[in-house]
Amino acid sequence: MRESDVPDDLAETLVTEEQITAKIAELAAAIDADYAGKDLLLVAVLKGAFVYMSDLVRALSGQVTVDFMAVSSYGAGTRSSGVVKINKDLDTDITGRHVLIVEDIIDSGLTLSWLLENLRSRGVASIEVAALLRKPDAAKVQVPVKYLGFDIPNAFVVGYGLDYAEKYRNLRSIAVLAPHVYA
Ligand code: IMP
Repeated sequence: MRESDVPDDLAETLVTEEQITAKIAELAAAIDADYAGKDLLLVAVLKGAFVYMSDLVRALSGQVTVDFMAVSSYGAGTRSSGVVKINKDLDTDITGRHVLIVEDIIDSGLTLSWLLENLRSRGVASIEVAALLRKPDAAKVQVPVKYLGFDIPNAFVVGYGLDYAEKYRNLRSIAVLAPHVYA
């Protein structure tokens, strides 16, 4: 889906398809260099990270393996309480593995911070984060991100895997959702 397919639903383009492609090539080169000769496992957090995972993995030259997790946050109606439930765990035993968590967006950072500690406690050889987007102004906890795509303003965005009510995940770019859509 392109922005021209849903022009009334979007307020502003934040990252174009071309910008995403160029950034992924840059990040993939850094990841290839850093993990040369190492056995790398990429772990994506569903559902939002599925598009980024799919493009990032194909931009890498080295041999890698992939796995997926699904998590949701508990709590009194808050979107991110920091208390996380695992809906789908990894299929892989990550003891002694080099793990790279692939995330679509870091908002409060609470989900990722919990996930980092959970996976680290399984005895990994190393663990790092590759996040395509980050909202610095929304951070409630600082999460170390080794491979970052773009810092964006604190607005609700859709596209490139990110949804509103499960829609817009198939939009090729990343755009701010028009307020009338969720009003
Ligand atoms: P955090 O725990 O607040 O960092 O939550 C991060 C998760 O919230 C992401 O993985 C997304 O699924 C979701 N999220 C945060 N901001 C947005 C947004 O602007 N659009 C769509 N989903 C978002």
